[in-house]
Amino acid sequence: MSIMHNRSDFMNYLIRKHNFKSYLELGVDNAWNYNQINIESKTGVDASSRSLHASTGDPVDMFIMYTDNFFAINEKKYDLIFIDAMHEMSQCYIDFKNSYNFLNDNGIILFHDIWPKNKVETELGNMGTVFKTWMQLCDTYDTSVYRDYYYNDAVGILEKSLNPTWKEIDLKDQTIDHFLENENFYIHSRCINNTQHTLLKLNLPEKVYGRNNFKLNDWC
Ligand SMILES: C[S@@+](CC[C@H](N)C(=O)[O-])C[C@H]1O[C@@H](n2cnc3c(N)ncnc32)[C@H](O)[C@@H]1O
Repeated sequence: MSIMHNRSDFMNYLIRKHNFKSYLELGVDNAWNYNQINIESKTGVDASSRSLHASTGDPVDMFIMYTDNFFAINEKKYDLIFIDAMHEMSQCYIDFKNSYNFLNDNGIILFHDIWPKNKVETELGNMGTVFKTWMQLCDTYDTSVYRDYYYNDAVGILEKSLNPTWKEIDLKDQTIDHFLENENFYIHSRCINNTQHTLLKLNLPEKVYGRNNFKLNDWC
């Protein structure tokens, strides 16, 4: 039985289940998540050199630069990409576009910071305005959400096999109030609607227990 305590466990679960070989993390920071990811090939990008010092991985796989500059020199495709760098809606969208281009056909893109609970959390040093990009992605693409009840965390999921065609999104400057009013759609219902689908497509086990003993069906 799989134990999932946090988003890193969830990512490792996806890696095992899909036999993913390559992982890219945009925004590594102190490598809390990055160091926990178990995969054949791991690449990190961060504007700050602290990621290089914190990473336990091979230093040649850690790119200390802005994400735009990284994609300008990158030549590799990845199975799993975690977007968690600049928390501003336009830059998050640029990171998504570049990630989509460098994602293998069976790959998955994950988004952090899609779920602010109040206005303070939408400040740039916090979750920022990623939720605005996420709202448009949900309206345009087939998406689902992993909810971590223990840490009150959420990760947005976009599978390329379910979204094989690139679609531009229309970035609207929607308010946190609008998001919170429609949170059910962007976080809960979207997830509930996709639960069966996620179970099938991601092949998640029927029951996954975390610290609170929640079951998979309770995630959503
Ligand atoms: C929230 S932290 C990442 C946390 C990490 N992914 C985790 O789960 O433990 C965001 C990081 O993104 C980096 N960052 C912000 N904007 C960036 C950009 N445009 N290019 C590269 N790194 C960026 C910051 O230096 C910071 O370390």
